[in-house]
Amino acid sequence: MKKHRGKPIVQITNPDIDEYSHKHTTPESEDISELIQSSDEALEYIDMLSGRVVGQFLKMMVKISGAKRILEIGTFTGYSALMMAEALPDDGEVITLEMNLKFQEIAQDHFDKFRAGEKVRLIKGNAQQLIKELTGEFDLIFMDGDKLRYPFYFEATLPLLKKGGLMIADNVLWDGTVLAPEDEKAKSIAEFNKLVAKDGRVEQVLLPVRDGVNVIRKL
Ligand SMILES: C[S@@+](CC[C@H](N)C(=O)[O-])C[C@H]1O[C@@H](n2cnc3c(N)ncnc32)[C@H](O)[C@@H]1O
Repeated sequence: MKKHRGKPIVQITNPDIDEYSHKHTTPESEDISELIQSSDEALEYIDMLSGRVVGQFLKMMVKISGAKRILEIGTFTGYSALMMAEALPDDGEVITLEMNLKFQEIAQDHFDKFRAGEKVRLIKGNAQQLIKELTGEFDLIFMDGDKLRYPFYFEATLPLLKKGGLMIADNVLWDGTVLAPEDEKAKSIAEFNKLVAKDGRVEQVLLPVRDGVNVIRKL
């Protein structure tokens, strides 16, 4: 798997532990394994794809919570959208938002090709605008794109989440840079974690899994 992000400032998890966790986590279905392969062939890098441990964690959350309607911000090639869709009942739906034209094309091909894609609706465009047009409640929101605006998405999508629903935000440790944020993305993510921590409308647990996952429940 090709990489493109720089070296982490702190090693959040020991690489051997990461590998051990990966090995002992339920493997992806044949469809998803094919999606990973096809993404790797199509792109220079695929490290934006959330990967087995986070993907299986999302699947587990969808199953345990009984979520039926899911919103995802940041589709990339469709990995996490399809993982969650595999966990949904037949009448469930993942609405996923993506602005990059190339990723839209690859993701739509994947949704057309793989069975669980029937439950995925890709909406093309900038999530900042698109979320204003969304109606109805969501049971689960997966935030995984536009890291510069995590605080904005928290405020803008919390009203769309049902009471008791889950918002799951990925990369909330941003290679450890949230400890001493310097660049704009690190500052935005650190601000997001701070906002969530002091917001009385939610309870949350920030898990140091991979690049950090914040699991937020609306009270
Ligand atoms: C980390 S990747 C998503 C990975 C995907 N969830 C997965 O696990 O396979 C983030 C994605 O968000 C998209 N993105 C960034 N800013 C966006 C915006 N304002 N609106 C829509 N998509 C955006 C990027 O193009 C990229 O594909």
